Amino acid sequence: MNKASIADYKYLEGTKVILREDFNVPINKNGVISDDKKIIEALPTINFLIERGAKVIIISHLGRPEGKVDPKFSLEPVVERLKELLDMPILFEKELFSEHMQKMLRTMKNGDVMVLENIRFFPEEEKNDEEFAKKLADLGDIYCDDAFGTSHRAHASIAGITKFIPSYCGLLMAKEVEVFSQLIENPQRPFVAILGGAKVSDKIKLISNLIEKVDCILIGGAMSYTFLAAEGYNVGNSKVDEAKIEYAKLLLEKAKNKKVKICLPIDHLVAKEFSFLADYDVCSSEHFPEDGIGMDIGPKTIRMFSKLISQAKTAYWNGPMGVFEYKRFSKGTRAVAKAMAENKNQMIVGGGDSASAVRNFGFENDFYFVSTGGGASLAMLEGSELPGLVNLKDKE
Ligand code: 3PG
Repeated sequence: MNKASIADYKYLEGTKVILREDFNVPINKNGVISDDKKIIEALPTINFLIERGAKVIIISHLGRPEGKVDPKFSLEPVVERLKELLDMPILFEKELFSEHMQKMLRTMKNGDVMVLENIRFFPEEEKNDEEFAKKLADLGDIYCDDAFGTSHRAHASIAGITKFIPSYCGLLMAKEVEVFSQLIENPQRPFVAILGGAKVSDKIKLISNLIEKVDCILIGGAMSYTFLAAEGYNVGNSKVDEAKIEYAKLLLEKAKNKKVKICLPIDHLVAKEFSFLADYDVCSSEHFPEDGIGMDIGPKTIRMFSKLISQAKTAYWNGPMGVFEYKRFSKGTRAVAKAMAENKNQMIVGGGDSASAVRNFGFENDFYFVSTGGGASLAMLEGSELPGLVNLKDKE
């Protein structure tokens, strides 16, 4: 990676550092954070800045409040968790740009940390409004972007701000970008991609680009039904992205021409209703019942996918293999996580659902890398330029 890291900046003592983090963590209806991975992964950069005597001003978003103040999306629970993890008091500023805030900024001491309330409470954030970005930049001396998970968004606190202030990459950002750059530029082979999730449309560009890079693509989850339909199989009442069947055919053709194997499920757990208690049958792709809904990959597919994963030197996984939130339909997703955890080569999980699945199944520590970026890792593998990365300072 040729971007300058915050660790290359020599004058942190007393410097006001605007640190963009991605604290977009799941919070349940009781206000409890159900997965704090993104906060934990932010700690090395925060601690580094504290130890070097910087004044740390943290900006993050949480959820999609659509430019309005909505207490449901307050960063308060995140601030409480951060206090516990850092074991120190943290200033939480709810009134951005207020007189109170200016006073707090003036009285901050070296090593202090201030978190600003959800930046998406301002409509200007997602519009990448230039004046707003400048106002944010004016809060500090330098900017540090550690929010890999949001680096695919051209928003004011991610992209706009970098025009006005020297901008460096945080330690987490550097690690993430290095792993994905290596995956794109120099993967060890065989390189297997495992893709799942609901919508083919979300992953079309990704699949097309991956066909240029990988040896084999395993497709499970709801999107596999669109591909099976493209191959002429009956998939009953399973979710099919009708508008994308023709495109799926083109992708299958492209893969064939490039000699990249695309493996679709050969059997399925099929239920009559979409429910966590639904009874199910195992059936092959050839004998899919007219009134059936595919809920998970079947045992033969699990064996096939696990074997291919065990032979891989590099693997990237994004998207569950079935309705893994329902225990009885989580076996396929668990099997992929297990096969990757048992392989000691470069096994990489994109953020989002698959990363939480890996954690919930207890495999995280066995993985080569569990990314904090779902959409961002997809964007990188699609070959898109990340707005959060382009304007960061290059290494000298
Ligand atoms: C994420 O969780 O993927 C990031 O925080 C980005 O969130 P967004 O999809 O709401 O922009």
